Amino acid sequence: MSDQVHPLENQIALVTGASTGIGRQSAFALAEAGAAVVVNYIGERAPADEVVAKIEARGGQALAIEADVSSEAQVEAMFRASCERFGTLHILVNNAGIEKDCAFTEMPLADWQKVIDVNLTGQFLCSRAAIREYLRRGPQPRISKATGKIICISSVHQRIPWAKHANYAASKGGVMLLVETLAQEFASRKIRVNSVAPGAIKTAINHAAWATEDALDKLLEMIPYGRVGDAADVGNAIVWLCSDAADYVTGTTLVVDGGMTLYPSFSTGEG
Ligand code: BGC
Repeated sequence: MSDQVHPLENQIALVTGASTGIGRQSAFALAEAGAAVVVNYIGERAPADEVVAKIEARGGQALAIEADVSSEAQVEAMFRASCERFGTLHILVNNAGIEKDCAFTEMPLADWQKVIDVNLTGQFLCSRAAIREYLRRGPQPRISKATGKIICISSVHQRIPWAKHANYAASKGGVMLLVETLAQEFASRKIRVNSVAPGAIKTAINHAAWATEDALDKLLEMIPYGRVGDAADVGNAIVWLCSDAADYVTGTTLVVDGGMTLYPSFSTGEG
């Protein structure tokens, strides 16, 4: 039976975009669950070092590695460095993501491309590297029932169209079918691939949506559960999806959105 307190004991996890926001909190949640965590980041190193230091201070193991997830060479180098340090990998959390919002007719090709590169191609490159490692290593049933797990961070916008965010919504719609396709292709090899679709989570990416009282009131109208999410809400969902408790779950999306996808404007029963 798996350890309920540390369900990810002896497992190695790599989280992309782990120095801030949802990625940071996911790194903490995975470490609390017993995993050693590779903290991928890009740009400023200090926030990644802080995540590593916090995990180590609580007795965990972590390593910061810089890589642009949209660069094949950098992704390959990151997985090599990670496996050199920890031996192998059991969990990939494809979290790194960006927004470049713009009215569609004004949207520069570069903004379309950048969002697709990071949000979709990044998940392709990292998933490919992770699956190659899972297949190379083979099953370790005493550590994890599944040979390997991938969690892709999608969004409620894999389902909800989003004006002025065509690049972002298209990238997340792509993530949904990437997840389902990989889950289908690798289920027989005992690799589980799922996604978490967060709604409004309080992070820097959507600062404008919750920073003022007016904006927050408007946002809360779209969230039946009556609060903006915390990054920890997503981290907890990830830990469960990665654990043996979710061993029969593959190819699905766990929506973590306080009900945002439930058409809240229909909740009065009128109309
Ligand atoms: C976006 C946020 C937005 C949320 C709900 C997320 O995917 O990154 O900016 O607040 O969806 O609309």
